[in-house]
Amino acid sequence: MRGKFITVEGIDGAGKSTHLAWLTAFLQARGIKLCATREPGGTPLGEKLRGLLLDKDQPMHLETETLLMFAARREHIDKVIEPALARGEWVLCDRFTDATFAYQGAGRGVDAGKLATLEQWVQGALQPDLTIVFDLPPAVGRARAGSIKVPDRFERESEAFFERVREGYLQRARSAPQRVRVVDASRGIDAIQAELQTIAESLCR
Ligand code: ADP
Ligand code: TYD
Repeated sequence: MRGKFITVEGIDGAGKSTHLAWLTAFLQARGIKLCATREPGGTPLGEKLRGLLLDKDQPMHLETETLLMFAARREHIDKVIEPALARGEWVLCDRFTDATFAYQGAGRGVDAGKLATLEQWVQGALQPDLTIVFDLPPAVGRARAGSIKVPDRFERESEAFFERVREGYLQRARSAPQRVRVVDASRGIDAIQAELQTIAESLCR
C-alpha cells in the first residue's frame, strides 16, 4: 500500500524542528516506516541548491530563487519522495510547495499564477495527504529563535516579510482546508504536542 505524504510548515522559529522530532518518534513507535526529509534539499543535488539558496552572500533574482526551489523539488520527488511512497513508506517532509507560495509568493511577491503553473509542471497530481502549519506571530518566533549566530538569507528578513509569509500560509490553508491543518504554535509545547497526537492518531487509523 502506498505510504502517506506529510509536510510540515511554518515561519522560521515556529517550532518546526521541535515538533518534527516528536512526530518522527511518535510515528516510528507505531511501527510506521518513515522517510524523513526536507526542502530545499533531500537529495545530493538538492542539498547543493540549498547551500546556494540559503547563502547570505549569494544574492539572486526572486524568480531564480523560485525556479531553484522547484528544481530541487523536481529532483526530490523523483529520487526520494515518489520511490518512498511507492515502497509503502510514509514521507515526513520539512517544508514543501506551500513554503514557495508563502516565502516566494506572499513574502517576495512572485505571482501566484506562475507558482501554480510550476506546481502543476513539477508535481502533476502529487499533493501531500496532510500539511501541518505551525502558526504564530513572527515576533514570538524571533524571540524564541534567539540570536542565531549567522542568520541565513531568509532568517535575516524583516518582521514585515514574515508577517506576509505567515499570511501566505494561512491563505493556502483557507484554499485547501481538507489538506492543511493550522496548529496554534504560540501555546506551550505540551498543548501543541497533545494536538499533534490527536492528528497523528487519526492518520494512523
Ligand atoms: P524552527 O525549527 O521552526 O525554527 P525550533 O523547533 O528550532 O523552531 O524552535 C525554536 C526555539 O523555540 C527552540 O529553542 C525551541 O526549544 C523553542 N520552542 C519551540 N516550540 C516552543 C513552544 N511552543 N514554546 C516555547 N518554546 C518553544
Ligand atoms: P528550514 O529548513 O526551515 O531552515 P532552518 O534549517 O534554518 O530552520 O528552511 C530553509 C529556508 O528556506 C526557510 O527560511 C524557508 C525557505 N524556503 C523558501 O523560501 N521556499 C521554499 O520553497 C522552501 C522549501 C524553503
